[in-house]
Parts: sequence; C-alpha cells; structure tokens
Amino acid sequence: MKIATTIAEVRAQVAAWKKEGLRIGLVPTMGYLHEGHASLVDEAVRQCDRVVASVFVNPTQFSPNEDLDAYPRDFSRDCTLLESHGCHLVFHPEVEEMYLPGAATYVEILSEMPKQLCGKTRPIHFRGVCTVVSKLFNIVTPDKAFFGQKDAQQLAILRQMVRDLSYGIQLVGCPIVREEDGLAKSSRNTYLNAEERQAALVLSQAVFLGQKMVEEGERDTAKIVAAMTDHIAAQPLARIDYVSAVDGITMEPVSSIQGTVLVAMAVYIGKTRLIDNFIVEDV
Ligand code: PAF
Repeated sequence: MKIATTIAEVRAQVAAWKKEGLRIGLVPTMGYLHEGHASLVDEAVRQCDRVVASVFVNPTQFSPNEDLDAYPRDFSRDCTLLESHGCHLVFHPEVEEMYLPGAATYVEILSEMPKQLCGKTRPIHFRGVCTVVSKLFNIVTPDKAFFGQKDAQQLAILRQMVRDLSYGIQLVGCPIVREEDGLAKSSRNTYLNAEERQAALVLSQAVFLGQKMVEEGERDTAKIVAAMTDHIAAQPLARIDYVSAVDGITMEPVSSIQGTVLVAMAVYIGKTRLIDNFIVEDV
C-alpha cells in the first residue's frame, strides 16, 4: 500500500492506473478507523480494481465550538487496518495541502436539505463536507465512492451534490456496522467512559424499537418518534438533539411511512454527540 501526502502524487498514481483501464474506488475518511470504515474498503475492493482511502480531519466541517482538536487520530493504526483490507493508496494530506492560503471557495447546497436534522445544530457542517468531498473527487477522479449509511444525511446531500455538479461518480451507501451490543461503530465512541458507553445503548435500542413498530404495521411517524424519544429520555446521561422522521431523499419531515423514510437521531451522551438511524423502504 502506498502513502501519498500531496495531490500531485495521487494524480500521478491514479493517471497510471487509468492508463491500464483500472476502475478506481474512493473511501473518504477522517481516520481513527474502525470496522465500519473497513466495511467500506471491503466493498470498494469488491467493486473496483484499485482503492484509494483518504485520511484527513477536515477543518471546514467543524464549527469553532466543536471537537476538531480533540478528534482522535492514529495514522499508523489506520494504515495497518487499510492495508489488511486491501487498500492500494492512502491519501493523507496536511491541511495546507488541501486548503491553500486564501482559499475562499465552498460547495454548498442552497436548499433546506442541509438545514434539517444535524444541520440545525451544525450550520456549516455540510458545506465543509461538500467542499472537501468535492475536492477529493477532483483529485482522485474515482469511478465510485463509498460512504456509510450511518451518516445518512451526509450521503443524501452528497447524492444531490453529485447530481447537481454532474460528477460522473457512482456513490455507494454501505450498511451501518454495530458493536455486538448494538452501538453503531463511530470514531467518537472513544470519548465515552464506561458508564457513558453503557448509556449510549439507548440510541440503538431506540432504532430497534422504531424498526419493530414499523414491522408491526405502525405508519404514524409521530408515534414512532414519540416512543423512541421516550426511551432515550429515560436515560439520565442522554440529552436529545433530535429524533426525526424525514423523506429519505429530500430530508423534509414526513408524517407517515410512505416511500423511503429516514428515521434519524442525534443524542448527546455526556459531552459526546452520537448519531444513529434506520431507513424504511415502503413500496
Ligand atoms: O464521514 C466522514 O468521515 C467525513 O464527513 C468525510 C466524508 C470523510 C468528509 O470529511
């Protein structure tokens, strides 16, 4: 596995691969990788000939009050995981390589979509995500890019961006990977102490509760959201940011399960903000 720190190195390697007619897969990450990321690399290896993973903690998607400095980093451990899953090239740039002095251009979706769900408390987050992913697409020019369904709003927004900006790139959404007890894998789980780790189970429990209600025929999203909210609120260490049911494509709130519905939540456990969700395809 090769490691590149400059855009020029990535471009040269990708150009050589494209000359051989190889299909390129991109797995964008912020590092501190876990089995969720590994599953994206596995899928990319299955679907593409060469896999590029980026490891870059992107400053433009963090507000000043968020955890940019504290965000966990362990590049050598990341490389071990990526190599063992068959990644061919890691792009690990410095901030200055990605954002030149005076950089002033952003990619932003000007609909309500990035203002829903996480956008309500993270107003600049998706502008930063779209900007950095757009840059990675321009640098790597992949055939396919792989993202986790845990960040469902991010994936929906990136699909809109790819459509609007005519990127000829296929986005592949991969299922949420969970710990044995249900907690969705996240780099931020590392912030949790033992008591909080236990308390964090309310998120996946709420997901399973909501899924069960849907399976049993409940179609009223207000009832589903209320039951999930009550379950989480009973945990003293949990503080709800949101529990919402929205259209799976536009992210607009919906009152009944019809078409593709995303039921998503963000919950603080102590100081750590965690997200989880499930998608219902009602055909
Ligand atoms: O999902 C993430 O880890 C990040 O938002 C991404 C897509 C790598 C952009 O920085």
